[in-house]
Amino acid sequence: MKHLLSAADLDRTSAIEVLDTAARMAATQGREIKKLPTLRGRTVVNLFFEDSTRTRISFETAAKRLSADVINFSAKGSSVSKGESLKDTALTLQAMGADAVVIRHQASGAPHRLAHAGWVGSSVVNAGDGTHQHPTQALLDAFTVRRHLVGTADEPDGVGKDLTGLRVAIVGDVLHSRVARSNVQLLHTLGARVTLVAPPTLVPVGVEAWPCDVSYHLDDVITDQQPDAIMMLRVQRERMGADGTGGTSFFPSPLEYTRTFGLDARRMALLPEHAVVMHPGPMNRGLEISADAADSPRAVIVEQVANGVAVRMAVLYLLLAKEREAVA
Ligand code: NCD
Repeated sequence: MKHLLSAADLDRTSAIEVLDTAARMAATQGREIKKLPTLRGRTVVNLFFEDSTRTRISFETAAKRLSADVINFSAKGSSVSKGESLKDTALTLQAMGADAVVIRHQASGAPHRLAHAGWVGSSVVNAGDGTHQHPTQALLDAFTVRRHLVGTADEPDGVGKDLTGLRVAIVGDVLHSRVARSNVQLLHTLGARVTLVAPPTLVPVGVEAWPCDVSYHLDDVITDQQPDAIMMLRVQRERMGADGTGGTSFFPSPLEYTRTFGLDARRMALLPEHAVVMHPGPMNRGLEISADAADSPRAVIVEQVANGVAVRMAVLYLLLAKEREAVA
């Protein structure tokens, strides 16, 4: 595999290979010295055109733990804010000899363009493009679900296994969510059954073609399906309203949204005992998730962040080091 642009790039075998590699990476992260020599002498560029905290830091940490040189490039404070095109930015990166470019961009399809326009020879990893895809988020979510719900005492990470038989509910602003799109695809590839739950205004056109069920009733889904994992999505106010100021015309009021689609203590009590509560972050506490749900012992939100590092180490390793090692 040369690039990771979409969760659709992964079939069952390659998805399990990433998760199993991430399990090996995670095992090294409990050591006192966390750094591995694997990507010594290689350069990873983090190209972030959109705000990000955890994804950018996570990729940076992952690359550094593998001993790569890391260059962080954010649109603010660079020539991009002077109107430089993606092509010219790419040619600059190429001239600097980047082996991998990790890109987050507000335009859906930008990573695909970067990978296939012939401007750069490097591997391209999509760290989130518009409302389209965020494949490493789906991988870290699958890793977290597998560890909690498939792992055993002998094999805590569930190595070699997929997610067959598990039910996952993905709740909230599906319309604007690249996390939902990537997760539906990857969870389906791994054999889980997914139900999207959202108000009709936040369900994308064409959702019938996605490999999942759709419901407008959170209480029914929780009671009838007893999901093993419930993934709450952030209400993406910055993508609502034509002026980008975050109008909430997609639902009557924040209070109404919380009452109908928010996860709170009452709904937590209806979930099965073993169910895990997930959120990709950043959370709107009090809107899609209450503080007691976010901080409950069944919430794995902080673990998702930690697992993100291991998963991104695995992705960078598989894209940059595996073939070279095989040749050597
Ligand atoms: C997500 C994203 O940026 O798509 N966050 C993340 O990567 N941790 C989800 C979101 O912003 O709501």
